[in-house]
Amino acid sequence: MILLVNGPNLNLLGEREPAVYGRTTLREIEDMVRQACAGWNVQVTAFQSNHEGQLIDFVQEHRRTARGIIVNPGGLTHTSIALHDCLKAVDLPAIEVHLSNVNAREEFRRTSVVAPACRGQISGLGPRGYLLAAEWLCAETARPVALVKGEAAHPPRAGKRAARRGR
Ligand code: DQA
Repeated sequence: MILLVNGPNLNLLGEREPAVYGRTTLREIEDMVRQACAGWNVQVTAFQSNHEGQLIDFVQEHRRTARGIIVNPGGLTHTSIALHDCLKAVDLPAIEVHLSNVNAREEFRRTSVVAPACRGQISGLGPRGYLLAAEWLCAETARPVALVKGEAAHPPRAGKRAARRGR
């Protein structure tokens, strides 16, 4: 299972500054990520909050069952040492995603305090950034499959056996 975590104001996607963030809603993004991960037999648990502590509680709560985290911390990207510490503490591979290109906007958006706790960052690619993050996490964390004659080690559409293995 992968955690899809979105921070403050991302619940307003679709209506919020469409020239910057586009017209795709958060629900649509969550559905897209779910669909992409389904091809890997990986489930997605999505959560959005405008409150730092709730985001941290959510990540902590799922730390033992998740295999990775896609996180768009919104404005907390630039301020939240607590979220940084949480990502470090749970020791799961995390990808930081931003819809907009944070490096091409205001100066204050160029600093991400959560970035050092993440394996990588995808910024400026719109909703597709979430899909790329999902693809990477699924591939990176795929459970090794015992090599059966003629079978690939990490089949992207692994079918029933991977589903039976749980995560
Ligand atoms: C954002 C970029 C942040 O700087 C901003 O505060 C957001 C959205 C993005 O997805 O582009 O809320 O994370």
